[in-house]
Amino acid sequence: MNLTTNEKPQKKNVFEAILARRSVRTYAPDQLDCNTVQTLLEAAVRAPTAMHEEPWAFVVVQDHALLQRLSDLAKPIFVEEVRHRNSQGASHSFDHFTRPDFNIFHGADTLIIICAKPSSPFVAADCWLAAENLMLAASAIGLGSCVIGSAVAALSIHKVKTELGIPDEYSAIAPIVVGVPSGETLATSRKDPKVLLWKK
Ligand SMILES: Cc1cc2nc3c(=O)[nH]c(=O)nc-3n(C[C@H](O)[C@H](O)[C@H](O)COP(=O)(O)O)c2cc1C
Repeated sequence: MNLTTNEKPQKKNVFEAILARRSVRTYAPDQLDCNTVQTLLEAAVRAPTAMHEEPWAFVVVQDHALLQRLSDLAKPIFVEEVRHRNSQGASHSFDHFTRPDFNIFHGADTLIIICAKPSSPFVAADCWLAAENLMLAASAIGLGSCVIGSAVAALSIHKVKTELGIPDEYSAIAPIVVGVPSGETLATSRKDPKVLLWKK
């Protein structure tokens, strides 16, 4: 997808982008071009950052074979994590993770991993704020995105980090897939905001 051409979609304003964002789980095969990915990274780094640390660093994977390999590696690790959590009282079912044809990246062409050195208590917050900026920017230009938390454990394996160029002292914090949505994703519901106190 080349957003520098005349065919670029109308950009949404921030409220439209927030309302249009969904976790998209079906993607068209279109490859995002470098400019588009760069635009998303630029939006990410405009996030607020505690003590102006800007702790984030990014890995971009657009290699389909590598994405498939990472998915195959991550699935059993995540299933084991879920089993462990369920044995401690949680009750999530992730049966689809055991299906050979299930790809944890939902067939998206681009995986962006936000990484950081976990050197201060606010680093994770910074990275998740950057993640939301990135996803809203994607939404604003008509792209779909989805956080892939189920990949985090696999992305913490030393061999995987090495292959992805993630230095030892960095952690993968927020893996996000981005791509051209295929079909429509309906909005999920939300509870009304629970206001504990509104004192005037
Ligand atoms: C920290 C985090 C981890 C997530 N991990 C996954 C995941 O591994 N796979 C997935 O398909 N969606 C994942 N999601 C997306 C949520 O399932 C999704 O945000 C939620 O169901 C609400 O849907 P919506 O984003 O379309 O509003 C994750 C979201 C967050 C915030």
